[in-house]
Amino acid sequence: MHTQILFINIAQLINVRTSNNQLRGNDLAELPIIEDAYLLVENGLIADFGAMYELELKIPILPKNVQDITGQFVMPTWCDSHTHLVFAGSRESEFVDKINGLSYAEIAAKGGGILNSAKKLNNTSEDDLYHAALIKLNEVAKLGTGAIEIKSGYGLSVDSEIKMLRVIKRLKENSDLIIKSTFLAAHTYPIEFKENHQGYIDLIKNEMLPIIATENLADYIDVFCESGFFSPTETDEICKAGAALGLKPKLHVNQLNSIGGIEIGIENNAISLDHLETLTANEIELLSTFKGTATLLPTAAFFLRMQYQPARALIQAGAAVALASDYNPGSSPSGNMNFVTALSCIQMKMLPNEVINAATINGAFAMECIEQTGSIMLGKRADLIFTKKIPSISYLFYSFSINNIDKVMIKGKWVG
Ligand code: NIG
Ligand code: FE
Repeated sequence: MHTQILFINIAQLINVRTSNNQLRGNDLAELPIIEDAYLLVENGLIADFGAMYELELKIPILPKNVQDITGQFVMPTWCDSHTHLVFAGSRESEFVDKINGLSYAEIAAKGGGILNSAKKLNNTSEDDLYHAALIKLNEVAKLGTGAIEIKSGYGLSVDSEIKMLRVIKRLKENSDLIIKSTFLAAHTYPIEFKENHQGYIDLIKNEMLPIIATENLADYIDVFCESGFFSPTETDEICKAGAALGLKPKLHVNQLNSIGGIEIGIENNAISLDHLETLTANEIELLSTFKGTATLLPTAAFFLRMQYQPARALIQAGAAVALASDYNPGSSPSGNMNFVTALSCIQMKMLPNEVINAATINGAFAMECIEQTGSIMLGKRADLIFTKKIPSISYLFYSFSINNIDKVMIKGKWVG
C-alpha cells in the first residue's frame, strides 16, 4: 500500500544531511537544520524535505494526509549503540545494599553482580525472556530510540548464551527498530571456570561460536576487558576467534582500569571501544586516530557514582565520540537516551549540538546502520522524533528528565 504523510510548519528540522560522515573534533558541534520546514514521508522513507517557502514549487499537489505541526521540532531517532536490554529480573536489592555502604566485593560475595543476573536468566525460558525484552524495547522506542545494539552476556553457558542470542534474533525479526546483536559470553568468568580461564575461552571458541555461525546469531563480538574479568591477552584471543567468523569487536574497555584493552581493540579493528571512564593521555591520543567510535556511557558512571568520561578531551583530540545508554540491570537500569544526552551536557560539558550528533550519526556508525538511519536524509528510513512545542532544541537537554517527546515514528509507523 502506498502511504504518504506530509508534515508542514516544522519549527526546525534537525540534522539534515546530504552525505554520511563520522563526526570528529569541531564537526561534532555542527548541526545542520532547516527552520520552518516541511517533510514528506513515503512508504516508511524520507521522500522529500525543505523550507516551507519552497513547498509550493517542490510539491504542487499536496497528498491527502497533511499534518500541521507548528511549533514542534523533528529530529532523527536515537541510535543507542551499546545495551544489554535482554535480561531477567532486576537487581534493586544490590542498589539498596550499595546505598547502605556495602562494597562491590561484599555484594559479589552475597551472589550479586553479573552472576546474579546470569542465575536469574538461567531460570527464565526463552519465551519469557523474549516477552520481557519486547516490553523494554517498546519502552525505549517510545522514548525515541530507533536503532539499538543488544548484547548477550548474562548467559555464561552454551545454552543460556545461545538462548539470549535467539531472543535478540526474534526481536530483530519482529520489531521495526534496527537491531544489532553482539555476542558477549566474555562478560565474566562463570564460577566453575574461575580457576580455569582457558577452559571457558575454549568453550566460547569451540562450542558457542560454531552455533552462532550456523544460526547467524550475532553481528559483533564483545569482551569485558578489565582487571578481575578478561585480560588483554584473553580479549585478543576471543576477538581473533570472532574475527574468523566475521564478527567485529565492540569492546568494554577502561571502565575501571587502564590495562591495555584500547591497544587490543585497535589492533583487532574494533568497530567501537566503549565505556572509557578511565583514560590516560596516551590512550586519548590512541583514540584520536582510531577509525572506530569511542562510545561513552555516562549513565553507568552516574549510577555507579564514578568519574564521568573525559568527553571534552576526546572531542578536542579528534576522537569520534558516540553516546549510548548501556541499559543493563547492574550499572544502568535505564535505556532513556533523553537522560543520557542531558546528562552528557550537564556533567561532561558536551554541547546540545554535540550530544545530538553523538547519539544519532556517530551512534549509527558504531553499529553500522548509517546508510539507513541517524540523520534526515533522502531515502533513509523515516525514524523520527517529534518534540512537543519547545522554545529551542537546547531546551530538550536543559529540562532534563521532562518528557519533551510528543510522538515517535519508526520506519514510517507511529510508535504506540
Ligand atoms: O556495561 N561493565 C560490564 N558490564 C555491564 C554491567 C554489568 C552488570 O553489573 O550487570 C556494563 O556496565
Ligand atoms: Fe555494557
